Amino acid sequence: MSLYQLFTSKGPSGFGYGSTAEDVTAGLDLSGKTILITGCNSGIGQESMRVLALRGARVVGTARTLDKAKAACEGVQGQTVPVACELADPKSVRAAVATVKAVGAKLDALICNAGIMALPKREQAFGVELQFFTNHIGHFLLVTGLLEQLTATARVVILSSAAHHQAPKEGILFDDLAAEKGYGAWKHYGQSKLANLLFAKELARRFAGTQRTANAVHPGVIHTNLARHMNPVATALFAMVGPLALKSVPQGAATECWAAVHPGAAAISGAYLADSNVKKPRADAEDLALAKRLWEVSEQIAARLPVS
Ligand SMILES: NC(=O)c1ccc[n+]([C@@H]2O[C@H](COP(=O)([O-])OP(=O)(O)OC[C@H]3O[C@@H](n4cnc5c(N)ncnc54)[C@H](OP(=O)(O)O)[C@@H]3O)[C@@H](O)[C@H]2O)c1
Repeated sequence: MSLYQLFTSKGPSGFGYGSTAEDVTAGLDLSGKTILITGCNSGIGQESMRVLALRGARVVGTARTLDKAKAACEGVQGQTVPVACELADPKSVRAAVATVKAVGAKLDALICNAGIMALPKREQAFGVELQFFTNHIGHFLLVTGLLEQLTATARVVILSSAAHHQAPKEGILFDDLAAEKGYGAWKHYGQSKLANLLFAKELARRFAGTQRTANAVHPGVIHTNLARHMNPVATALFAMVGPLALKSVPQGAATECWAAVHPGAAAISGAYLADSNVKKPRADAEDLALAKRLWEVSEQIAARLPVS
């Protein structure tokens, strides 16, 4: 496929690599809908919040601090509600859950967008490797805490990545979630993104028989603040080739917006989405037994985290 074909081709949904968040939501009236998105202050999360609010949704935008969430929400036209949610701090996640419940907001979509990538050195939170904790466990606490707040047709959208292919070949390293036996920046980012896929898979299984859906998304490769932990040479290269070879931020935000609100995605659940279409992830990302085990282990981790 030539670069031109890549940028212009469309899949069965009618959208493709080059579609933007505005394209995939064009003509939709989201008034009356409430959508929560994590990581609303940067990158594709910020663009998704802007476009969903533009189409009339009330967007609950979360960021690590209330100040960051407020600043991001103030920069957007439309109805937004800023909420603090530091995913690596269970107390903050539980407070965010309590705030959403107190507001009484029923969620039509919940987009688990926030994430960190390729930390150069191993870091941990509560004895768990930090990318796994932030990208998966933090969102696991948030989503499971908000299940009762979901509408009957709610969609949960979980940002994964094509980098899930870089997860260990054994899948999730359940016997070393602290990464004490060895650490690799990309291997552990990949593991957290495989966990995002498996979480969506198990959630979709639990939603079976209802109109609720859960899907995982690869947004494309986009030059955002996500690259902040990459070495300076790689970051400079990324910045240079970005405008030519990577997706723009509006293109990167498309798939999560499509999954969250487009009528064409209403019946899709348990899938891996990229370029606003269903794609095939690596084989173990579809392993239902692995997905179930991850859920159980995540519950065990959640049970030993501080509550207040
Ligand atoms: N960009 C890509 O090429 C690419 C490719 C594949 C997948 N993805 C996925 O897409 C998602 C969005 O990435 P992006 O490119 O938009 O990155 P980004 O610009 O760095 O945005 C990431 C967001 O996550 C927030 N975040 C990070 N750690 C957090 C924590 N502990 N608690 C709460 N929020 C936290 C960040 O907050 P701060 O600004 O305060 O740090 C920021 O709002 C991520 O899940 C990423 O893995 C991106």
